[in-house]
Amino acid sequence: MIALGCDHGGFPLMKEVIAYLDANHIPYENFGTFSEESVDYPVYAKKVAHAVADGKCEKGILICGTGIGISIAANKVKGIRAALCGDVFSAKATREHNDANILAMGARVIGPGLALEIVKAFLETPFSNDARHVRRIAQIED
Ligand code: RB5
Repeated sequence: MIALGCDHGGFPLMKEVIAYLDANHIPYENFGTFSEESVDYPVYAKKVAHAVADGKCEKGILICGTGIGISIAANKVKGIRAALCGDVFSAKATREHNDANILAMGARVIGPGLALEIVKAFLETPFSNDARHVRRIAQIED
């Protein structure tokens, strides 16, 4: 189950992400927002971050205008490793190296074509489980 969250800036791109998930039969829970009416991104960041940290959802996708505010807010929740990605290489690498559990994107930064390639890479790339990466992730939590 993928937890989804966005603010008004991220809403247009989130519609594209939802269409991609639907087309690929990937289950999700949408924590909002549900329109382009102005809202506060930390509210949605925290809903998604808690769903992932509590184990209700295995991963999350967060979108705001830049992806910056919403990723900063999500990373305040213990156990969350939210990665702001604007390219496919980073999306793949952050799964392999950081076991990132939330993907953040900026709807005013990247277009939908690239965003969906990033989503695909993020969802399909497993964590490497290499000892050095396991050790470094544990150090983040210290
Ligand atoms: C909203 O205008 C904008 O500030 C927000 O979407 C995000 O970019 C914040 O980091």
